[in-house]
Amino acid sequence: MAVQIILGDIRQVYKKIKDHSIDCVITSPPYYRQRDYGVAGQIGQENSPEEYAKEIANVFRLLWNKLKNTAVVFLNIGYKYENEELLLIPEMVAWEMKKAGYVLKNKIIWYKPNAIPTPARNRLNNTYEAVLFFVKNVGKEVYYFNLEEVNEKPKLFYAIDFSKLLNASVEDNLSYRNKRSGRVIEIKGELLKILWESGFEEWLEFSLNQKRANFVCRNCGKTLSYWDVHLSYANNKRFICKHCGTKELPKPHLLEYSEIKYENAKNGLFSRQSEKYKKANLLTASPAGRLSITGEKLIIKRKWLFPQGLIADYLRKNLKERRLSLKKLGELLGSIHTVGHWLRKDFSHWGKGGSIPRPEDWYKLKEILGLDDTYDRLILDRVVVLSTVKSHPEGKNIGDVWAIATEPYKGEHFAVFPRKLVEMCIRLGCPEGGTVLDPFAGSGTVGEVASKLGRNAVLVEINPSYAELIKEKCKGYVKEIS
Ligand SMILES: C[S@@+](CC[C@H](N)C(=O)[O-])C[C@H]1O[C@@H](n2cnc3c(N)ncnc32)[C@H](O)[C@@H]1O
Repeated sequence: MAVQIILGDIRQVYKKIKDHSIDCVITSPPYYRQRDYGVAGQIGQENSPEEYAKEIANVFRLLWNKLKNTAVVFLNIGYKYENEELLLIPEMVAWEMKKAGYVLKNKIIWYKPNAIPTPARNRLNNTYEAVLFFVKNVGKEVYYFNLEEVNEKPKLFYAIDFSKLLNASVEDNLSYRNKRSGRVIEIKGELLKILWESGFEEWLEFSLNQKRANFVCRNCGKTLSYWDVHLSYANNKRFICKHCGTKELPKPHLLEYSEIKYENAKNGLFSRQSEKYKKANLLTASPAGRLSITGEKLIIKRKWLFPQGLIADYLRKNLKERRLSLKKLGELLGSIHTVGHWLRKDFSHWGKGGSIPRPEDWYKLKEILGLDDTYDRLILDRVVVLSTVKSHPEGKNIGDVWAIATEPYKGEHFAVFPRKLVEMCIRLGCPEGGTVLDPFAGSGTVGEVASKLGRNAVLVEINPSYAELIKEKCKGYVKEIS
């Protein structure tokens, strides 16, 4: 991991930051007329809150090209009273940021349980600051945001009583273009035998949630996460291996491979069989989830979450090799409208944009295009999930109020970030091995936490005397000072 320190006014030295290199910004600019950092050109001494808000947004205008399209911004701004009036400075900054092209996703309340008491008797003590969470407005919503890294793990687990799933009704909107219904007629461990209304029977695995697929590079053999592949499509519109730079499409590396076979059933149906089953030790998050099983609907979902751009690329490549036009392919598939969507590479992480072929269509595509088996399991593996268990088994969404005590700091610099706050933002908004920027670095807390968490950092600070504090905090990681 490397920390790069750049000394100077961010509005001038921003040019030293490499274009499209920043995954995440975490920063706390000087607050409006709160302190004097003793350097000409410092932000925070503007004549009015309006000017201040505009100046902060101006910095982010300059940074626009330095941020990847998938970057997120955590901007910490405090509230201030002037002449006994509460100024809504964070909100004013948010408004100016919107004009600069940033989308506000959350105003996180950073509640300080150890806030300094106030002598005021005419109002309540202000015990929180705002952490504004923005993404770049680049048309599509595609950014890195990994709640699983910070989720609170559920404290209690309840075993699912699988016998209660017997006779439960099942709905399948995924496998075929036409919806089908069925019911559970047999249970073996976590495998459910479903009798579809057509009379067709198949075994499918029960699961509490979909899993993210991992990949492996065909050139260097290194592992790539779901996010590595997804972010590559979002930022470059193509796959580029982050390890070796190859553009060859990666292979899935699905960890839980069990003996799963696919068969093209004679009459256009397909089935999936597995002899193997594990003990019924699946867990669910809440008693409500457990109770809801009785009389509850089960639905069919893909087992794996994977970047749609990858399948679009793979299909495009095969179409080109076979000199088939999109129109012709559509005709061969029975004039369906979704063909074009399968070739789009702008699927967002949250499901807008292109689409992934259904298992039924995949079989047809395989025949028409002579596709190999590389991506079969991604498209064809399906699981049965409960339609109403909303609580994610990996923990609930942590919400937008964070109680984090301020930390004392012995050095000369005031107003340092508590490390816990920086850690939350990094885990949420910066992929491992990515780069975090703090354009108002102060004592360098962001650099310290980033290095410990396996991320790189670029720290900009106007006051050259703080360089020593930064070097001290980021000992062993500072690679460059300019
Ligand atoms: C609130 S402090 C940041 C503290 C930091 N979060 C930490 O944990 O130590 C704001 C910093 O921004 C610096 N600063 C002010 N104006 C600046 C500018 N125009 N360019 C770069 N840094 C600036 C100040 O010198 C100060 O160190």
